[in-house]
Amino acid sequence: MKSADLAVLGCEQLVTCGGPIPKRKDALQDVAVIEKGCIASHQGRIVFIGDEKSYTKEVRLEDNSVCIEGSGLVGLPGFVDPHTHLPFAGTREQEFVLRLKGATYQQLAEKGMGIQTTVKATRDASKQELISLCLKRLDRMLLHGTTTVEGKSGYGLNFEDEIKQLEALREADGLHPVDVISTFMGAHEIPPEYKTRKNAYIDLLIDKILPEVKKDNLAEFFDVFCEEGVYSIEETRKLVRAAKEAGFKIKIHADEFSPLGGAQLAAEEGASSADHLINITDEGIQKLAQSQTAAILLPAVSFFLMLEKRAPVRKLIEKETIVALATDFNPGSSMTESMLFVLQLAVFTLKMSVEEAINAATANAAFALARHEDAGSLEPGKKMDLVLYDAPNYPSIVYHLGINPIQHVIKDGKLVVKDGQILKVS
Ligand code: NIG
Ligand code: FE
Repeated sequence: MKSADLAVLGCEQLVTCGGPIPKRKDALQDVAVIEKGCIASHQGRIVFIGDEKSYTKEVRLEDNSVCIEGSGLVGLPGFVDPHTHLPFAGTREQEFVLRLKGATYQQLAEKGMGIQTTVKATRDASKQELISLCLKRLDRMLLHGTTTVEGKSGYGLNFEDEIKQLEALREADGLHPVDVISTFMGAHEIPPEYKTRKNAYIDLLIDKILPEVKKDNLAEFFDVFCEEGVYSIEETRKLVRAAKEAGFKIKIHADEFSPLGGAQLAAEEGASSADHLINITDEGIQKLAQSQTAAILLPAVSFFLMLEKRAPVRKLIEKETIVALATDFNPGSSMTESMLFVLQLAVFTLKMSVEEAINAATANAAFALARHEDAGSLEPGKKMDLVLYDAPNYPSIVYHLGINPIQHVIKDGKLVVKDGQILKVS
């Protein structure tokens, strides 16, 4: 008999997303469903998942345990959101309204709006303000089913404000049930003070900020915006090599607006992920397919920027790349904390199947963050991060649009959202 301190019994379906991870091509079609499923955990880790008959035989619930009746509910692993710009200040509704009148994201950036607006607001914000903003956003993420999230710096673009953003992320992580994984993205833009001296800023990143981030263990990943007018392939390679040398894992904002070859570079450098990929080339797809680098797709960006062009997901899956999904939550190109919405966009706009999208937002997303031993699937030994939907079956969570069907969320074996409301846990 296994002892448990929390159990959910008789769910209409438990979608486990289990099996070898990462999942490529055909494996993406299988979400490993258990009908009338039961799941139990002990001290935050899953100890049992299976049908009612084996639950009764194998599990003993300790006194004072939490036991949830699962009828009418469908359970999925908590979403893992592997790409967000979480610790920013200010919003950009003005810019959005101008875009609705016909201006493009890049035209606005050239006029000094875009990222620079958020850089100013983030520099002006105190660390405490950033922490409060992060906590509020983490609440929204949790209410929409995310239990693990990556967050990037990159709106400070100088020593003290990059460190401030990363410290805010670390403190928010300690104060909130959602797990926050940090990425240092000082190479998100060229700061206004360095516009004509990009090399001097690259030196500052490599010689001064990187070592400090490492010394205080403020980030696990390093990310660069490899794009025309931002960091070239050569500059990205130089930054990535320095970061690898310093012990960071790598992510690259690659081939978003122009096909510079960021995807190839990510694969060659053994990056954990290449993200965006709206303009990835066939060569880029080939290189990613032969690597362990995940292709993180951000369908909310094409949608939010109203771009005709989208990442070529059918080709990416056909060629057997590791496809994952993320929000890219940021105030300029994707103002959404909701992985549930991204899941729906992946199906409706990228034409992924429901199963492919679910695996990409859970198991493969966890792989892209090197957290697949802990999160992204419901399997014994992994964290009990479970989201329970008021739904008759799992396709319903994609099919039923514009509402939030999430009833309960369990994070690390604790009930943190009950009847759609956040419970403040100590
Ligand atoms: O991932 N592409 C670069 N960075 C963000 C946008 C940031 C912003 O507009 O503030 C992105 O889309
Ligand atoms: Fe991004």
